[in-house]
Amino acid sequence: MTRIAVFPGSFDPMTNAHLDVARRASDLFDRLVVGVLDNPKKKPLFDVDERVDLIQRCVADLGEHVSVTAFHGLTVEFARMHGAGFIVRGLRAVSDFEAELQMALTNRKLAPEVDTTFLMTALEYGYVSSTLAKEVAQFGGDVSPMLPEPVAAALAERLAEGPRV
Ligand code: PNS
Repeated sequence: MTRIAVFPGSFDPMTNAHLDVARRASDLFDRLVVGVLDNPKKKPLFDVDERVDLIQRCVADLGEHVSVTAFHGLTVEFARMHGAGFIVRGLRAVSDFEAELQMALTNRKLAPEVDTTFLMTALEYGYVSSTLAKEVAQFGGDVSPMLPEPVAAALAERLAEGPRV
């Protein structure tokens, strides 16, 4: 039986915590599809194609069984579209748990055949979030412990461009 999982998220942008979870999931599943949510209601710093491209560069060494694609709508529909029986989500701290439990139970109600699996991120990335990394970078702090190298470079470039109109 082929075990297929999707790893959905906003990934604006991908952090070392996300990458750590993707790496762990890539060891567990036969196929892993990283799904970048294209949410027209949000104004991300990186558009969906940029986020997909950055993640592709970050996961390139994980193997051919890992792919990256954009999606919109429900995560469970995205999972079904790829024949995935699993949704992967990362947990950094207890504080993540409540929202994640609510999402997992909602997804189970919508699609009982799809199970959510939680992977603990490495201890060293327990504090890392996309939002904080963007804030630290904006004020000139060092984001190299938080972000994969291509992401840190893209973020520096984006912030140097100044505010987008
Ligand atoms: O990286 P994030 O922002 O924590 O990811 C959240 C995400 C994209 C997994 C979640 O918002 C999601 O699944 N959105 C798609 C819409 C959906 O399926 N909603 C119902 C389940 S909560």
